[in-house]
This record gives sequence, structure tokens and C-alpha cells, in this order.
Amino acid sequence: MSDFLTRFEKSLNGLKRRARHRELVLSGSGLDFSSNDYLAMSQHPKLLAAVTIALAEGVGLGATGSRLLRGHHTEHQVLETQAAQFFGSQAALYFANGFMANYALFTCLPKLGDLVIYDELVHASIHDGMLASKATTRAALHNDLQDFEDKIINARNKGVKGRIWLAIESIYSMDGDMASAANFMRLANKYDAFLVVDEAHATGVWGQGGKGLMAKWEGAENLITIHTCGKALGASGAFICAPQTIYDYMVNFSRPFIFSTAPAPLMAFTVAKSLEILQTEPELSATLKQLIKYASGLFAELGIKPSGTQIQPVIIGDAAKTMQIARQLQQAGFDIRGVRPPTVPDGSSRLRITLTLNVTERDIGDMVSLLKPLWEASHD
Ligand SMILES: Cc1ncc(COP(=O)(O)O)c(C=O)c1O
Repeated sequence: MSDFLTRFEKSLNGLKRRARHRELVLSGSGLDFSSNDYLAMSQHPKLLAAVTIALAEGVGLGATGSRLLRGHHTEHQVLETQAAQFFGSQAALYFANGFMANYALFTCLPKLGDLVIYDELVHASIHDGMLASKATTRAALHNDLQDFEDKIINARNKGVKGRIWLAIESIYSMDGDMASAANFMRLANKYDAFLVVDEAHATGVWGQGGKGLMAKWEGAENLITIHTCGKALGASGAFICAPQTIYDYMVNFSRPFIFSTAPAPLMAFTVAKSLEILQTEPELSATLKQLIKYASGLFAELGIKPSGTQIQPVIIGDAAKTMQIARQLQQAGFDIRGVRPPTVPDGSSRLRITLTLNVTERDIGDMVSLLKPLWEASHD
């Protein structure tokens, strides 16, 4: 009975030897330079007040069933209609989180004979969905339009007859850089491809009114976007924004949608309220953009290339060194986390610094002053 756990312990020890062992650290201590609560929406007084009232008025906590059974509530329906209107798509299907939305999409829509060409830096949930799909998949170089196009041409030359799917993020979660939305849309149109864009880090912040970088093209037959609700919207869940036919198809064929308890009606209500606040308070994203501009100037002075968005990587390279710098910053009161492989490519361990309305320009200035000597010593 003694060696049930041995192989798991061996793997964990292997991670420890390579400075890749992860542990849970409680949030709440230190200034927030690591959350995705970009607009501080999770603590917005109007959101908290509305949700408290809704709960008291009987909006459900548990959905009590799958959406296709007794779990489909008014709050889900209202939210999906509101989200489709807000983002500009024909329909929006609400999932419990972004991981599940991506997984559901990629396991359900691309079929045997199709080819999914994905940016090498797309999120783990897209990878896992593709792994469980019968479609063929190919990685393209990060943000390299030419490589995407070469892979399409190559596939057609080799006789691939199925639908081509292009999968990208609009803002990359670990690098904070943007995809060229217009060029990817053009490429998809040129080759009759579906374009799937994970807008997780753009939703609420970027694009007109926080509608994401694909806002201009929402409603197109060959565009599907994923908008998550656990980041700038301060709640949880995710929408697959797509043509009505895709919505109907997923309701009928997507196993994670069908065989799972629906998200809490109270959470659907929360997201709806959050979308409302987003529209009535455009100053939230405007203020965040000011912070980004301010921080970009400071990072540039240190010789760190500003990403131009609220996600700023500081690439250290070595995993142990990265975690040591993160610890030093945490001890000084700044909640900054290190990110190591396999989340990021080998040799690119980094501090993933995020900017949110939970901090001020002064906090940013203090943080960068402390970072300066650590950053300089890291590449001595
Ligand atoms: C690009 C991207 N897509 C999807 C997800 C998953 O979203 P969620 O946290 O709602 O599961 C994340 C979250 O880390 C992400 O960064």
C-alpha cells in the first residue's frame, strides 16, 4: 500500500529541482500588481450593492440543473441577449468560465478533415480543446501573419479540403501584446476561414467601449469571439459570441454545455450588471489607459519594452531568479507573481505585472523604483 503516491511525489520533486514547483498563495496581501481585475470591477460599490439586493430578492445561487433541463433561468437569457447586443454579435452563449468556453468551442466546431492553425502562444484551454478535437492542428509563429498564410497555402497544396480555422488571442495573456485584428480578419476572409479570437484580456478595456479588438467585425459569419467575465468584468464566466446558427449548434452538440450544471443565476446577474456599469462609466477604462501610459514611460526608462497594454512582462529568463525577485517585491508590499514554464516558453520566466484600478500612479512609481535595482542585477 505504500507506493500509491510515489510517482506523483517524484514528479513534484522534479518540479522542485527545476524551480517550477507551484504553491497556492492567498491573495489580499500587497498592492495588486497581479490580478486581472483591470477595472477594479470586482469591488465596484454599485456592483456589490446590486448583487446584494438581487440575492435578497431571490435570484438563485445554484442553477439546479443543466441549461437544457431546469437550469435555464431568466438571468441567463437576459444576460445572453444583453451580451450579444453589447458585443455586436448575433448571439452569445454563456459558460461558467473562459477555459470551458474555449474547450467547448474547439472540441465541438472544427471537424475531422478541418485544419486549425493557432498562434503558438494561445491559452492552455485552446490547446486542450484542440487536443480533444478530431481536426488537424498546426502551430503558427506568434503574431506572424505570413506564417499563418504559408500554413494555409501549404495545407491546400497538400489537398486539405476541410474548413480552415484560425485561432488567436486579441491580447496575449503572458506578453500583453496585441494581434493585428484587421489583418487576421482579412486573412480569414481571403481563404474562407473561420477566425476564432479569444478576447479575454481585451474585453471591457480595449476596442470601442471595451467591446474588444474585433468589435468592428462582430456579426460576421466567419468570426467567433470569446469574451471572458472573470477579468475586467470582475465576475466569472465567458461568452462565445457567434452567429445564431453556431449558438444553436453548440446548445445541441457541445458536451460541456449540455452535460454540466448551468452557471449560477446570481453570477449571470452580476455579469449583466457589470456590463451595464461598463457602459455608464467609460472613465474606468480611460483611467486604466492613463495608468498604462504612465507605467510605460517608467518601464521604458528601465530598458523594458512597454507592451502598451495592462499586461507588462518583465522577462528574467531563469525560473529560480524570477521567483526570487517576485518574493522580494512581495516582501516589500507589492503583489507581483512570477510565471515559469510550461506556462511560458523555456528560458522566458518572467514577472507578469498587471495594471489595474486597484493601484495609483504613485503605487506604480514606488513599484518601479523597487524593481529597478532588482531588474538591473538580474542581468549582470
Ligand atoms: C487568454 C485566456 N483565455 C481564456 C482564459 C480562461 O478564462 P477563465 O479564467 O474565465 O477560465 C484565460 C485565463 O487565464 C486567458 O488568459
